[in-house]
Amino acid sequence: MPVNSSLPHDWFSISDVREKIRATPEALTRALNATQARVGFELARDVRVVPPSELPRKPGLSTEEGQARLLHDLASIELQALELGVRTLEQFPEAPSAFREELAEVTAGESRHLGLCLDGLEALGYSWGHWNVHTSLWNVVSDRDSLLDRILIVHRYLEGSGLDAGESMLARLKGVRNPHPKPIVQTILNEEVDHVAFGSRWYKQIATEMKLDLSLDFEARIRSIASVAPHRERLAYDRRRAAGFTDDELTILARFSPHGG
Ligand SMILES: [Fe+2]
Ligand SMILES: [Fe+2]
Repeated sequence: MPVNSSLPHDWFSISDVREKIRATPEALTRALNATQARVGFELARDVRVVPPSELPRKPGLSTEEGQARLLHDLASIELQALELGVRTLEQFPEAPSAFREELAEVTAGESRHLGLCLDGLEALGYSWGHWNVHTSLWNVVSDRDSLLDRILIVHRYLEGSGLDAGESMLARLKGVRNPHPKPIVQTILNEEVDHVAFGSRWYKQIATEMKLDLSLDFEARIRSIASVAPHRERLAYDRRRAAGFTDDELTILARFSPHGG
């Protein structure tokens, strides 16, 4: 397959987050129209990237600093989700066009989520770059992924873990009076259910077309992803069911959860 790793006007090289949001519609159109698979993606950041273990302790959510930190961490996750979506579109031009169009919509949603987090952060008197960030979601994927790998890793495993984390965030925000963080987290969480459902549908469709045993395939893939990106949160069963996880799949996931689900 021909490969083009030096597209002009590379959206990935934009490090200013607001500028990246503004440039996203054009990047999505360009990615949707791409006919050559691209590999060799590099992230640009205008803030320092550190391993998650080097981020400072999170202040409590009763403080504005703690709320701002939560939105900053969430913004960093949404930014990576946005970049992962554009990357998949550029890397898999041969994917079914219905999949690509749906993915472009999901990815536009990530750009909106990023904007919501930045707005909330600023409303609290903070701004992007106040803390360092990690890129550990981005680091789980590789140019060697197949389309099925990518769908499972990003839209079922990482975004699925986001449903679990979002539910625990909402529980911790319950008593918080400040109007900013809660509706943002709630809106994002509601929309993420659709993103994960998109991953569940396409995983099932493509794996079925490939005549894979869904249960064996799911378990093998989860085992290998969990070895590099351990699952940390209690499973949000209801949200995950609404996002297309079967009871069989939830039983398998629970084996890789520190809480046993
Ligand atoms: Fe998102
Ligand atoms: Fe998402």
